[in-house]
Amino acid sequence: MFEGKRLLIAPLALLLAVGTVPAASGQSTPSASGGSPGTCLPEGGIPQQDSYLIGMSQANEGEPWRQAMNDQITAAAASHPELEVVFSDAAQNNAKQVADVENFLQQGIDLLIISPNEAAPLTDVVAEACAQGVPVIVLDRKVNGDQFTMWIGADNQAIGRRAGEYAANHCQEQGLSPCNTIEIRGLEGSTPAQERGDGFREGIAANPDLTIIASQNADWLRERAIPVSQAMFQANPDVNVVYAHNDPMAEAAIISAENAGLNPDEVLFIGIDGLPTPDGGIRSVLDGRIDVTYVYPTGGQQAIDYALQILTQGETPPAEVVLETEEVTSENAQAVLDRFTGGGAATPAP
Ligand code: FRU
Repeated sequence: MFEGKRLLIAPLALLLAVGTVPAASGQSTPSASGGSPGTCLPEGGIPQQDSYLIGMSQANEGEPWRQAMNDQITAAAASHPELEVVFSDAAQNNAKQVADVENFLQQGIDLLIISPNEAAPLTDVVAEACAQGVPVIVLDRKVNGDQFTMWIGADNQAIGRRAGEYAANHCQEQGLSPCNTIEIRGLEGSTPAQERGDGFREGIAANPDLTIIASQNADWLRERAIPVSQAMFQANPDVNVVYAHNDPMAEAAIISAENAGLNPDEVLFIGIDGLPTPDGGIRSVLDGRIDVTYVYPTGGQQAIDYALQILTQGETPPAEVVLETEEVTSENAQAVLDRFTGGGAATPAP
Protein backbone atom coordinates (compact mmCIF):
# COMPACT_ATOMS: atom_id res chain seq x y z
CA MET A 1 0.00 0.00 0.00
CA PHE A 2 2.87 2.34 0.64
CA GLU A 3 4.52 2.51 -2.70
CA GLY A 4 5.25 6.02 -3.81
CA LYS A 5 4.16 7.44 -0.50
CA ARG A 6 7.35 7.15 1.48
CA LEU A 7 8.70 10.13 3.31
CA LEU A 8 12.31 9.93 4.40
CA ILE A 9 13.06 11.90 7.49
CA ALA A 10 16.14 14.09 7.20
CA PRO A 11 19.24 13.23 9.25
CA LEU A 12 18.60 16.09 11.66
CA ALA A 13 15.52 14.29 12.85
CA LEU A 14 17.84 11.63 14.20
CA LEU A 15 18.52 14.04 17.00
CA LEU A 16 14.97 13.50 18.05
CA ALA A 17 15.29 9.77 17.98
CA VAL A 18 15.34 9.14 21.67
CA GLY A 19 14.17 12.30 23.30
CA THR A 20 17.52 13.92 23.72
CA VAL A 21 16.91 17.36 22.31
CA PRO A 22 14.06 19.83 22.47
CA ALA A 23 11.13 19.14 20.23
CA ALA A 24 11.46 22.37 18.29
CA SER A 25 14.46 21.47 16.17
CA GLY A 26 14.39 19.42 13.03
CA GLN A 27 11.22 17.48 13.43
CA SER A 28 9.69 15.72 10.51
CA THR A 29 7.91 17.95 8.11
CA PRO A 30 5.03 16.69 6.03
CA SER A 31 5.98 16.73 2.40
CA ALA A 32 4.26 16.75 -0.92
CA SER A 33 4.67 13.00 -0.95
CA GLY A 34 1.89 12.80 1.65
CA GLY A 35 -0.52 10.08 0.75
CA SER A 36 -4.20 9.78 1.38
CA PRO A 37 -4.84 6.56 3.22
CA GLY A 38 -8.46 7.62 3.52
CA THR A 39 -9.02 5.34 6.44
CA CYS A 40 -9.69 5.59 10.13
CA LEU A 41 -11.35 8.99 10.24
CA PRO A 42 -14.80 9.58 11.64
CA GLU A 43 -17.44 10.63 9.17
CA GLY A 44 -17.25 14.37 8.60
CA GLY A 45 -13.68 14.48 9.93
CA ILE A 46 -12.44 15.03 13.43
CA PRO A 47 -14.48 17.64 15.31
CA GLN A 48 -12.42 20.43 16.86
CA GLN A 49 -12.14 19.98 20.61
CA ASP A 50 -10.39 21.70 23.48
CA SER A 51 -8.50 18.55 24.28
CA TYR A 52 -7.75 15.22 22.68
CA LEU A 53 -7.17 11.87 24.31
CA ILE A 54 -4.43 9.72 22.75
CA GLY A 55 -4.02 6.08 23.74
CA MET A 56 -0.45 4.79 23.45
CA SER A 57 -0.33 1.01 23.44
CA GLN A 58 3.21 -0.14 24.18
CA ALA A 59 4.39 -3.71 23.51
CA ASN A 60 6.69 -4.02 26.50
CA GLU A 61 7.73 -1.18 28.76
CA GLY A 62 10.32 -3.40 30.39
CA GLU A 63 12.79 -2.83 27.54
CA PRO A 64 15.02 0.26 27.61
CA TRP A 65 14.34 1.22 24.01
CA ARG A 66 10.57 1.13 24.62
CA GLN A 67 10.97 3.19 27.76
CA ALA A 68 12.86 5.73 25.62
CA MET A 69 9.96 5.74 23.14
CA ASN A 70 7.44 6.42 25.89
CA ASP A 71 9.68 9.12 27.37
CA GLN A 72 9.94 10.79 24.00
CA ILE A 73 6.17 10.72 23.50
CA THR A 74 5.64 12.20 26.95
CA ALA A 75 8.22 14.93 26.31
CA ALA A 76 6.79 15.78 22.89
CA ALA A 77 3.22 15.90 24.16
CA ALA A 78 4.18 18.07 27.14
CA SER A 79 4.48 21.11 24.92
CA HIS A 80 0.90 20.61 23.68
CA PRO A 81 -1.48 21.01 26.60
CA GLU A 82 -4.40 20.10 24.35
CA LEU A 83 -3.04 16.54 24.14
CA GLU A 84 -3.49 14.01 26.89
CA VAL A 85 -1.65 10.73 26.42
CA VAL A 86 -2.55 7.58 28.36
CA PHE A 87 -0.16 4.64 28.20
CA SER A 88 -0.70 0.91 28.45
CA ASP A 89 1.93 -1.81 28.76
CA ALA A 90 1.26 -5.19 27.17
CA ALA A 91 4.34 -6.70 28.85
CA GLN A 92 5.06 -8.65 25.63
CA ASN A 93 1.66 -10.35 25.73
CA ASN A 94 -0.43 -10.15 22.55
CA ALA A 95 -3.75 -10.89 24.27
CA LYS A 96 -3.04 -8.19 26.85
CA GLN A 97 -2.27 -5.70 24.08
CA VAL A 98 -5.54 -6.52 22.30
CA ALA A 99 -7.37 -5.93 25.58
CA ASP A 100 -5.43 -2.69 26.13
CA VAL A 101 -6.59 -1.34 22.77
CA GLU A 102 -10.18 -2.43 23.37
CA ASN A 103 -10.04 -0.69 26.69
CA PHE A 104 -8.77 2.49 25.04
CA LEU A 105 -11.62 2.34 22.52
CA GLN A 106 -14.10 2.07 25.34
CA GLN A 107 -12.53 5.09 26.99
CA GLY A 108 -13.25 7.01 23.79
CA ILE A 109 -9.73 7.85 22.67
CA ASP A 110 -9.45 10.29 19.78
CA LEU A 111 -6.34 8.65 18.32
CA LEU A 112 -4.40 5.45 18.86
CA ILE A 113 -0.62 5.11 18.75
CA ILE A 114 0.47 1.50 18.86
CA SER A 115 3.81 -0.27 18.80
CA PRO A 116 2.55 -3.82 18.33
CA ASN A 117 4.18 -6.77 20.03
CA GLU A 118 3.60 -9.12 17.09
CA ALA A 119 1.98 -8.33 13.75
CA ALA A 120 -0.70 -10.96 13.17
CA PRO A 121 -2.33 -11.02 16.63
CA LEU A 122 -2.70 -7.22 16.71
CA THR A 123 -3.95 -6.73 13.16
CA ASP A 124 -7.66 -7.19 13.88
CA VAL A 125 -7.89 -4.89 16.86
CA VAL A 126 -6.05 -2.15 14.96
CA ALA A 127 -8.51 -2.61 12.08
CA GLU A 128 -11.35 -2.40 14.60
CA ALA A 129 -10.08 0.96 15.87
CA CYS A 130 -9.81 2.14 12.29
CA ALA A 131 -13.35 0.97 11.50
CA GLN A 132 -14.60 2.94 14.50
CA GLY A 133 -13.14 6.11 13.00
CA VAL A 134 -10.18 6.30 15.35
CA PRO A 135 -6.99 7.34 13.51
CA VAL A 136 -4.16 4.88 14.15
CA ILE A 137 -0.43 5.59 14.04
CA VAL A 138 1.56 2.34 13.98
CA LEU A 139 5.07 2.82 15.37
CA ASP A 140 8.18 0.70 14.74
CA ARG A 141 6.82 -2.86 14.47
CA LYS A 142 4.09 -3.34 11.88
CA VAL A 143 0.70 -5.00 11.67
CA ASN A 144 -0.56 -6.78 8.56
CA GLY A 145 -2.72 -5.19 5.88
CA ASP A 146 -3.50 -1.49 5.59
CA GLN A 147 -6.25 -0.76 8.10
CA PHE A 148 -4.44 2.04 9.88
CA THR A 149 -3.71 5.68 9.14
CA MET A 150 0.08 5.64 8.92
CA TRP A 151 3.22 3.77 9.90
CA ILE A 152 6.35 5.46 11.30
CA GLY A 153 9.63 3.63 11.75
CA ALA A 154 13.09 2.95 10.43
CA ASP A 155 13.88 0.56 7.59
CA ASN A 156 14.83 -2.64 9.38
CA GLN A 157 15.70 -4.47 6.20
CA ALA A 158 18.20 -1.73 5.30
CA ILE A 159 19.66 -1.78 8.80
CA GLY A 160 20.11 -5.56 8.59
CA ARG A 161 21.72 -5.18 5.18
CA ARG A 162 24.22 -2.62 6.47
CA ALA A 163 25.03 -4.88 9.41
CA GLY A 164 25.59 -7.75 6.99
CA GLU A 165 27.86 -5.65 4.78
CA TYR A 166 29.83 -4.57 7.83
CA ALA A 167 30.28 -8.18 8.92
CA ALA A 168 31.21 -9.29 5.40
CA ASN A 169 33.88 -6.57 5.15
CA HIS A 170 35.23 -7.43 8.57
CA CYS A 171 35.58 -11.10 7.65
CA GLN A 172 37.35 -10.19 4.43
CA GLU A 173 39.70 -7.68 6.07
CA GLN A 174 40.62 -10.20 8.75
CA GLY A 175 41.09 -12.96 6.17
CA LEU A 176 38.59 -15.18 7.99
CA SER A 177 37.64 -18.18 5.90
CA PRO A 178 35.31 -19.53 7.07
CA CYS A 179 33.98 -16.62 9.09
CA ASN A 180 31.66 -18.27 11.58
CA THR A 181 28.69 -16.13 12.48
CA ILE A 182 25.91 -16.65 14.97
CA GLU A 183 22.65 -14.74 14.90
CA ILE A 184 20.49 -13.90 17.93
CA ARG A 185 17.07 -13.00 16.66
CA GLY A 186 14.18 -10.91 17.95
CA LEU A 187 10.67 -12.18 18.57
CA GLU A 188 9.77 -14.07 15.42
CA GLY A 189 6.23 -12.69 14.95
CA SER A 190 7.47 -9.11 15.17
CA THR A 191 8.29 -7.63 11.79
CA PRO A 192 11.75 -6.18 12.61
CA ALA A 193 13.07 -9.65 13.46
CA GLN A 194 12.16 -10.94 10.03
CA GLU A 195 13.39 -7.80 8.28
CA ARG A 196 16.68 -7.56 10.20
CA GLY A 197 17.33 -11.23 9.49
CA ASP A 198 16.50 -10.96 5.77
CA GLY A 199 18.50 -7.75 5.35
CA PHE A 200 21.56 -9.28 6.99
CA ARG A 201 21.44 -12.20 4.60
CA GLU A 202 21.36 -9.76 1.68
CA GLY A 203 24.31 -7.87 3.13
CA ILE A 204 26.55 -10.91 3.50
CA ALA A 205 25.73 -12.37 0.09
CA ALA A 206 28.90 -10.99 -1.49
CA ASN A 207 31.19 -12.86 0.92
CA PRO A 208 30.69 -16.62 0.77
CA ASP A 209 33.28 -17.06 3.55
CA LEU A 210 30.79 -15.67 6.03
CA THR A 211 28.61 -18.52 7.19
CA ILE A 212 25.72 -18.31 9.62
CA ILE A 213 26.47 -21.42 11.65
CA ALA A 214 23.66 -20.95 14.19
CA SER A 215 20.58 -18.78 14.56
CA GLN A 216 18.42 -18.68 17.67
CA ASN A 217 15.57 -16.62 18.96
CA ALA A 218 15.85 -14.69 22.23
CA ASP A 219 12.68 -12.59 21.83
CA TRP A 220 14.56 -9.25 22.00
CA LEU A 221 15.29 -9.81 25.68
CA ARG A 222 18.69 -9.57 27.36
CA GLU A 223 17.77 -12.06 30.06
CA ARG A 224 16.61 -14.60 27.50
CA ALA A 225 19.68 -14.04 25.34
CA ILE A 226 22.06 -15.05 28.13
CA PRO A 227 21.18 -18.78 28.23
CA VAL A 228 20.53 -18.81 24.48
CA SER A 229 23.96 -17.38 23.63
CA GLN A 230 25.64 -19.52 26.29
CA ALA A 231 24.30 -22.64 24.61
CA MET A 232 25.33 -21.30 21.21
CA PHE A 233 28.93 -20.68 22.32
CA GLN A 234 29.10 -24.09 23.95
CA ALA A 235 27.98 -25.78 20.75
CA ASN A 236 30.15 -23.53 18.53
CA PRO A 237 33.32 -22.40 20.31
CA ASP A 238 34.84 -21.07 17.07
CA VAL A 239 32.74 -17.94 16.54
CA ASN A 240 34.03 -14.90 14.66
CA VAL A 241 30.91 -12.71 14.44
CA VAL A 242 27.81 -12.31 16.61
CA TYR A 243 24.88 -10.54 14.97
CA ALA A 244 22.28 -9.67 17.60
CA HIS A 245 19.03 -8.06 16.48
CA ASN A 246 19.32 -5.53 19.33
CA ASP A 247 21.92 -4.17 21.73
CA PRO A 248 20.60 -5.83 24.92
CA MET A 249 20.99 -9.24 23.26
CA ALA A 250 24.48 -8.29 22.00
CA GLU A 251 25.47 -7.35 25.57
CA ALA A 252 24.17 -10.72 26.76
CA ALA A 253 26.29 -12.48 24.13
CA ILE A 254 29.42 -10.64 25.29
CA ILE A 255 28.84 -11.92 28.82
CA SER A 256 28.28 -15.45 27.53
CA ALA A 257 31.43 -15.30 25.41
CA GLU A 258 33.44 -14.32 28.48
CA ASN A 259 31.80 -17.09 30.52
CA ALA A 260 32.68 -19.56 27.79
CA GLY A 261 36.35 -18.55 28.11
CA LEU A 262 36.46 -16.71 24.79
CA ASN A 263 38.21 -13.40 24.34
CA PRO A 264 35.41 -10.99 23.33
CA ASP A 265 38.01 -8.78 21.63
CA GLU A 266 38.48 -11.52 19.06
CA VAL A 267 34.79 -11.63 18.17
CA LEU A 268 32.90 -8.94 16.24
CA PHE A 269 29.72 -8.04 18.15
CA ILE A 270 26.99 -6.28 16.18
CA GLY A 271 23.89 -4.79 17.79
CA ILE A 272 21.01 -2.46 16.87
CA ASP A 273 19.28 0.40 18.76
CA GLY A 274 22.15 2.75 19.63
CA LEU A 275 20.48 4.40 22.61
CA PRO A 276 22.50 7.30 24.04
CA THR A 277 21.74 6.24 27.63
CA PRO A 278 24.42 5.19 30.17
CA ASP A 279 23.64 1.52 29.54
CA GLY A 280 22.81 2.00 25.85
CA GLY A 281 24.58 0.84 22.72
CA ILE A 282 26.56 4.00 21.97
CA ARG A 283 28.21 3.90 25.38
CA SER A 284 28.88 0.19 24.87
CA VAL A 285 30.72 0.96 21.62
CA LEU A 286 32.71 3.68 23.38
CA ASP A 287 33.64 1.23 26.10
CA GLY A 288 34.87 -1.28 23.51
CA ARG A 289 32.19 -3.92 24.09
CA ILE A 290 29.76 -3.81 21.16
CA ASP A 291 31.78 -3.14 18.00
CA VAL A 292 29.07 -1.64 15.84
CA THR A 293 25.45 -0.66 16.39
CA TYR A 294 22.79 1.11 14.34
CA VAL A 295 20.71 3.95 15.71
CA TYR A 296 17.08 2.85 15.62
CA PRO A 297 14.99 5.96 16.27
CA THR A 298 11.92 5.41 18.42
CA GLY A 299 9.74 7.77 16.37
CA GLY A 300 7.98 9.01 19.50
CA GLN A 301 8.46 12.65 18.60
CA GLN A 302 7.21 12.12 15.06
CA ALA A 303 4.16 10.22 16.31
CA ILE A 304 3.10 13.23 18.36
CA ASP A 305 3.85 15.63 15.48
CA TYR A 306 1.59 13.65 13.17
CA ALA A 307 -1.06 13.06 15.82
CA LEU A 308 -1.34 16.83 16.16
CA GLN A 309 -1.66 17.28 12.43
CA ILE A 310 -4.34 14.65 12.16
CA LEU A 311 -6.32 15.81 15.17
CA THR A 312 -6.02 19.57 15.09
CA GLN A 313 -5.29 20.44 11.48
CA GLY A 314 -7.35 17.80 9.73
CA GLU A 315 -4.33 16.95 7.59
CA THR A 316 -3.89 13.65 5.83
CA PRO A 317 -0.46 12.32 6.80
CA PRO A 318 1.82 10.31 4.55
CA ALA A 319 1.00 6.61 4.71
CA GLU A 320 4.58 5.81 5.67
CA VAL A 321 7.34 7.83 7.31
CA VAL A 322 10.77 6.22 7.24
CA LEU A 323 13.20 7.38 9.92
CA GLU A 324 16.93 7.46 9.27
CA THR A 325 19.48 5.26 10.93
CA GLU A 326 23.20 5.76 11.54
CA GLU A 327 26.05 3.30 11.87
CA VAL A 328 27.94 3.77 15.15
CA THR A 329 31.50 2.46 15.52
CA SER A 330 34.43 3.48 17.72
CA GLU A 331 35.25 6.07 15.05
CA ASN A 332 32.13 8.17 15.46
CA ALA A 333 30.53 6.99 18.73
CA GLN A 334 31.66 10.01 20.75
CA ALA A 335 30.46 12.43 18.10
CA VAL A 336 27.07 10.69 17.85
CA LEU A 337 26.71 10.68 21.62
CA ASP A 338 27.61 14.36 21.81
CA ARG A 339 25.03 15.12 19.17
CA PHE A 340 22.31 13.31 21.09
CA THR A 341 23.23 14.73 24.45
CA GLY A 342 24.32 18.20 23.39
CA GLY A 343 27.88 17.37 24.46
CA GLY A 344 26.80 16.98 28.07
CA ALA A 345 26.37 13.90 30.21
CA ALA A 346 25.29 10.72 28.45
CA THR A 347 21.84 10.95 29.93
CA PRO A 348 19.07 11.92 27.58
CA ALA A 349 16.50 14.45 28.60
CA PRO A 350 13.21 12.73 29.47
C1 FRU B 1 12.39 -3.25 22.07
C2 FRU B 1 12.99 -3.66 20.82
C3 FRU B 1 14.18 -2.88 20.39
C4 FRU B 1 14.18 -3.20 18.96
C5 FRU B 1 12.73 -3.04 18.66
C6 FRU B 1 12.26 -3.75 17.47
O1 FRU B 1 11.23 -3.99 22.29
O2 FRU B 1 13.33 -5.00 20.96
O3 FRU B 1 15.34 -3.25 21.06
O4 FRU B 1 15.01 -2.43 18.23
O5 FRU B 1 12.06 -3.52 19.77
O6 FRU B 1 10.89 -3.66 17.36
